[in-house]
Amino acid sequence: MINKHKTAIITGASSGIGATFAKTLAKDGWNLILTGRRTDKLTELKQRIVLLYQVSVQTFTADLSVNEDLESFLSVIDKNTTIELLINNAGFGSIDNYFKSNFLNAQQMLNVHITASTKIVHRVTPQMIENGRGAIINLASLSAFFPGPKSYYYSSTKAFMITFSECLHIDLFAKNIKVQALCPGFTNTAFHSRQGITRSKSYILKKLLWRSPQQVVNKSLKSLGKRNVICIPGFFNRLIYTSIKIMPKSLYYKLAARNSDIFFKPIDQQPISKANPLLSPQTGRSQEAVSSQEALADSQEAAVENR
Ligand SMILES: NC(=O)c1ccc[n+]([C@@H]2O[C@H](COP(=O)([O-])OP(=O)(O)OC[C@H]3O[C@@H](n4cnc5c(N)ncnc54)[C@H](OP(=O)(O)O)[C@@H]3O)[C@@H](O)[C@H]2O)c1
Repeated sequence: MINKHKTAIITGASSGIGATFAKTLAKDGWNLILTGRRTDKLTELKQRIVLLYQVSVQTFTADLSVNEDLESFLSVIDKNTTIELLINNAGFGSIDNYFKSNFLNAQQMLNVHITASTKIVHRVTPQMIENGRGAIINLASLSAFFPGPKSYYYSSTKAFMITFSECLHIDLFAKNIKVQALCPGFTNTAFHSRQGITRSKSYILKKLLWRSPQQVVNKSLKSLGKRNVICIPGFFNRLIYTSIKIMPKSLYYKLAARNSDIFFKPIDQQPISKANPLLSPQTGRSQEAVSSQEALADSQEAAVENR
């Protein structure tokens, strides 16, 4: 882990990997600027962190797919001159049929994964250069290496984040700024239930493939600044990555076309309605299903933390 008593920005801190980064860094003495759309979740997290670790926590509600919200958040960044760590974590998945869905969801994904992340880096990095140190963690995904018919935008925006991070690393290494493209595989958060999908019931797949958010965060922080910019938590995930790298592309394309559904199945078929506040923001899936998945993810995370 890097220096203490500095400020870290975490986008998408209201749940999952972002919330786990926030708790882990606070435990290590970091002050935090946290953002997400769900004010209640951010406030809850802030109260818990302040009580436990007595660090300063600033929360900011913003939908990073909306330009006005993004610009307001950037102005918060401008007011803070002690930012030493940026974690570009906000993101969401989607398994929409590309040709049948409207473009709104795709546009939101481009806005959050690419426009917001790169604009935030653009705003924060000059400050880090001036201070002579800093670190940037960009959340990509193992799926960046697995293009497939269910993830036109997800895989390609995450692939962008990997290349973008490598460009940053080449430029910023000599300026004492560490860069990482964090590529988790399946992680126990509400990420999948928010898309209306649940994980495979196969015990072996669960044991081999799934990680807790705490395991992902620990691996990320331990690897930051090490030799490799691309961080893939989990031995089995690294094995899959290596196998795919050496597999002939023509074989990969055939496998991907046939097997894109083996890991997931839909958990509910509720109609997508933007007007219904009980539905998950981007996908329109039931918030009850999301909450139960979040509760499960939280309890698994707590079990790992207490080990
Ligand atoms: N879970 C996995 O298996 C997995 C695997 C590989 C990569 N990842 C990546 O890890 C990151 C974190 O995901 P997670 O697994 O922790 O899922 P999660 O619990 O659903 O967290 C996603 C976070 O992103 C925020 N977010 C989503 N859309 C946003 C928007 N328009 N504006 C602002 N914030 C937004 C959410 O906050 P609000 O809902 O409050 O806005 C939430 O805090 C994502 O970038 C995801 O792509 C996840």
